[in-house]
Amino acid sequence: MRIGILGTGTVGRTLGARLVQLGHEVVLGARQATNEAARQWASELGERAAAGTFADAAAHGEVVVNATAGVASVAALQAAGADRLDGKVLVDVANPLDSSAGMPPTLSILNTDSLGEAIQRQFPAARVVKALNTINANVMVDPARVPGEHTVFVAGNDPAAKSVVVGILRELGWPASSVIDLGDITAARGLEMYLALWIRLMLNFGTADFNIKVVRP
Ligand SMILES: NC(=O)c1ccc[n+]([C@@H]2O[C@H](COP(=O)([O-])OP(=O)(O)OC[C@H]3O[C@@H](n4cnc5c(N)ncnc54)[C@H](OP(=O)(O)O)[C@@H]3O)[C@@H](O)[C@H]2O)c1
Repeated sequence: MRIGILGTGTVGRTLGARLVQLGHEVVLGARQATNEAARQWASELGERAAAGTFADAAAHGEVVVNATAGVASVAALQAAGADRLDGKVLVDVANPLDSSAGMPPTLSILNTDSLGEAIQRQFPAARVVKALNTINANVMVDPARVPGEHTVFVAGNDPAAKSVVVGILRELGWPASSVIDLGDITAARGLEMYLALWIRLMLNFGTADFNIKVVRP
């Protein structure tokens, strides 16, 4: 599959590398085509990997991943271009974390709205699926780093788009039984507000190698 990833941070590079290893053709997008992290990433991964702008990545992808800093995600997607997102599955991995007042970060959107919803409103023809924002990048691409079965969530308005994303999750090693579909994109509120707890857990444990498991009778 052709996958465009917007974001050259830990998530973009880690997820992108794993998707290339799985046989996908990935373009990693940045603000500038000259982004050194993206160029280096592509040169290490071979012919199925390339670096470009946000627009290049969006144009390339049948599926597009938003892995940009949450406070800048709408701007990054605008730079990618709404027409390049039309009709595409847009996997929103981002969290609207605002570190401008120091640590721990606060959420710039919450309670009655979410970044996932804001993106869906701004890009109504994109098929936004919130997924993987609750899990560290290394665990995203290798769920076995955490023992046992644990939970990954999806949320979005388009069931077919969610099926595409669940297919990618399965390729990354997530069992079908670990996926919880929370319904429409408004579920992104809870998925993003969970970050307040995620950050405290990370600070307590001193590692991001953990996840939650939802259990019920
Ligand atoms: N780190 C994790 O393990 C993890 C796990 C789950 C979810 N997340 C979420 O995933 C997203 C990516 O996280 P990350 O740690 O990989 O990277 P990050 O440092 O949060 O974001 C890096 C990306 O954001 C872009 N960016 C920053 N400021 C921008 C601006 N003003 N305008 C446009 N683009 C801008 C950068 O563009 P350039 O490439 O041009 O520099 C870069 O591609 C975040 O929303 C984060 O909360 C992270």
